[in-house]
Amino acid sequence: MIKPTGYSILVVDDEDIMRNGLCEPLTALGFDVRGAASAEEALKLLDEREAHIVITDLRLPGMTGMQLLSRVLEKKPATAMLVMTAYGSVETAVDAMKKGAFDYITKPFSFDEIQIMIEKMSEKLDLVIENEKLKTELKGKYRLSNIIGKSKKMQAMYELIEKVSSSAATVIIYGESGTGKELTASAIHYSGQRVNKPYIKLNCAALPESLLESELFGYEKGAFTGALARKAGKFESAEGGTIFLDEIGDIVPEIQVKLLRVLQEKEFMRVGGVTPVRVDVRIICATNANLVEKVKAGKFREDLYYRLNVIPIYIPSLRERKEDIPLLINHFIAKFNSENNKKFKKVSDEVLKLFFNYDWPGNIRQLENTMERIIVLNDDDLVTKDMITPDLMAEFNTVSAAGANPGGFIKTPGQASDFYQSRSFNAPAAVVDDGTAKNNTGSSQQAVSGVNALNIAPLAPLEEVERAHIARALKILDWNLSKTARSLKIDRKTLYLKIEKYKIEKEVY
Ligand SMILES: Nc1ncnc2c1ncn2[C@@H]1O[C@H](COP(=O)(O)OP(=O)(O)OP(=O)(O)O)[C@@H](O)[C@H]1O
Ligand SMILES: [Mg+2]
Repeated sequence: MIKPTGYSILVVDDEDIMRNGLCEPLTALGFDVRGAASAEEALKLLDEREAHIVITDLRLPGMTGMQLLSRVLEKKPATAMLVMTAYGSVETAVDAMKKGAFDYITKPFSFDEIQIMIEKMSEKLDLVIENEKLKTELKGKYRLSNIIGKSKKMQAMYELIEKVSSSAATVIIYGESGTGKELTASAIHYSGQRVNKPYIKLNCAALPESLLESELFGYEKGAFTGALARKAGKFESAEGGTIFLDEIGDIVPEIQVKLLRVLQEKEFMRVGGVTPVRVDVRIICATNANLVEKVKAGKFREDLYYRLNVIPIYIPSLRERKEDIPLLINHFIAKFNSENNKKFKKVSDEVLKLFFNYDWPGNIRQLENTMERIIVLNDDDLVTKDMITPDLMAEFNTVSAAGANPGGFIKTPGQASDFYQSRSFNAPAAVVDDGTAKNNTGSSQQAVSGVNALNIAPLAPLEEVERAHIARALKILDWNLSKTARSLKIDRKTLYLKIEKYKIEKEVY
């Protein structure tokens, strides 16, 4: 015997014996069941109150069961509909399934059979509900309102995001590492018209060239050794939705050409394929490289650059919108309090000042990780200076000397938008440090801008900061690579590669 679920059932049959024969035992089992003797009556009952499951005979006086099926599914596509057919009219039943019926059952059937069907339909309804819940959660998670920041630069960005969300135009997101490029891309997809279609992400820098091509475009059976069956690529999987190509600046010319074709002709070839595949996919891409420089250096196709650069969005670095720091702190306090069951309320004035004076080369991600570490490792309601570990403190002191340092990057012609008037992205060549830089307090540097702003303290190279940060994280987490990778929000492999690259050794730290 099945247990009653919370789902309501409507039984439609003009034969009283049949209808009552189902309604009565199901009611006795505790189900919420109603009966209707015609399709017309069924529609009236459904108007009064919905039913999750509709079990209907196909042959009814007046409106047929098939017509009822179409009407019900039109109004409420998630309804689980079971059609009852007489022996020998299976074809009609198959038709009904094509129109969206869950299944059919041939008369005569036992009560056991119908119970199994109801169980299956309930499971399907559970899945539908679970899916809806997940989708709503996703939509919530990536809502524009989850991008924190009230500064003018951010407000201008929100306006732009809202405008581009409703279009299908290609978007390219520029910004330094950790500024929220991925978050922005998700917000664009989840607040746009393609929200119920796939959102597929791919980090172009994470894969070798050969793999990247088959990841993007898929392959045909036999395209290479090991290609045992045709496989769809990310573009095909994203059909109707959005593809997010991260680190677009890193793709090699061979793939750049293929991407250009997708952008121009909306079609591509699977690896080893001969017929083009057409797709309707919106492209959002991101880079922390200076594409203009890459074009100049011959590393990035100019035609592709223009195709991608339809709607550029420049995300400001954190040091350009320091006024958002308090908001972000509150956001991360709330987030990590709830994840770790802590009760922090705010940061002390002293800590706030330290945070303000620091340049945050790793941007929001670095601030987020800093807050997480403090909250995980301490129990209090106020974040105080002594919670900042000496190594982080040292970093605050050294990098802050170059503090508030917009002049540290040279101006890039062609990217002088409303945002980023005064700098390019962290293209290494653009970092100004000719060794003549003098130390100073940095407080007067706010106004410095342009190529000639050399009277600033040298910035710590990003790699050094990264190395120190990783080494510190490893030390705190006892060299547990999984935990460290998780807390740094990178994958284990990346962590491993960085440990190797920077030659970080256990005994040193
Ligand atoms: N404006 C913001 N408000 C709240 N959280 C943010 C904001 N911007 C970024 N974050 C958080 O900071 C972290 C880094 O963001 P994200 O991964 O989107 O950055 P990114 O620019 O793609 O970085 P990278 O260049 O390293 O890939 C994420 O955990 C993200 O949720
Ligand atoms: Mg990213």
